Amino acid sequence: MKYKRILLKLSGESLMGDKQFGIDNNRIHSYALQIKEIRDMGIQIAIVIGGGNIFRGVQAEAGGMDRTHGDYMGMLATMINSMALQAALEAVGVHTRLQSAIEMKEISEPFIRRKAVRHLEKSRVVIFGAGTGNPFFTTDSAASLRAIEMNADVILKGTRVDGIYTADPEKDKMATKFKEITFDEVYAKGLNVMDLTAFTLCKENDLPIIVFDMDTPGNLKKIIEGEQVGTIVKN
Ligand code: GTP
Repeated sequence: MKYKRILLKLSGESLMGDKQFGIDNNRIHSYALQIKEIRDMGIQIAIVIGGGNIFRGVQAEAGGMDRTHGDYMGMLATMINSMALQAALEAVGVHTRLQSAIEMKEISEPFIRRKAVRHLEKSRVVIFGAGTGNPFFTTDSAASLRAIEMNADVILKGTRVDGIYTADPEKDKMATKFKEITFDEVYAKGLNVMDLTAFTLCKENDLPIIVFDMDTPGNLKKIIEGEQVGTIVKN
């Protein structure tokens, strides 16, 4: 197995499936099955999920809301997605623990690093909700931070696109995909992988990122087995 402990980052939007907002049951069930598949291979899995299918802080700011206020609402949105994913995973027999960066003890454990590590060691999937608990940070930053804290081997960033391209493949038909790229090349070419705070945290801590298409079942397993899927960013 190429990786033993991973952090899987999922976007909130991907949970919508073909819907306009909210959570698509089939999509979340499909994610749960893919996660179960690698859990059954003995992989330790931590997950961070976004909240954009429910609420986006940036849009709220455009509408005149204070940015920090909107960001906190976005953190709550990630908790809704985290609870949905937790339920979907438990429905297929995967033990999970949810830890929140903002205390809400009736529905979640608080984030406690050492406890999270123990959960991973006991083969529980640990979902980290509420981002970093701070405004002005994205869930990509939460993913980088938690991955480093958990000593994960890699961040697997599941997206709709199957890797990093020379240009946006949804707009530019000539765009080609990188199999491998360095952090420095991403900076130099101005490519958009994660926001720079999250990206720099990974570079400085030598944590590779794999960007891949999570909507194609089987991709997650292939990555774990060392197959070349998506794009890997490393030093
Ligand atoms: P170990 O026994 O240490 O391996 O871990 P555990 O998670 O099974 O033990 P614990 O007794 O801490 O937790 C039992 C259950 O209570 C788990 O489902 C936890 O997620 C849940 N739990 C633990 N702490 C909290 C909390 O502060 N709030 C909520 N809502 N649930 C919690």
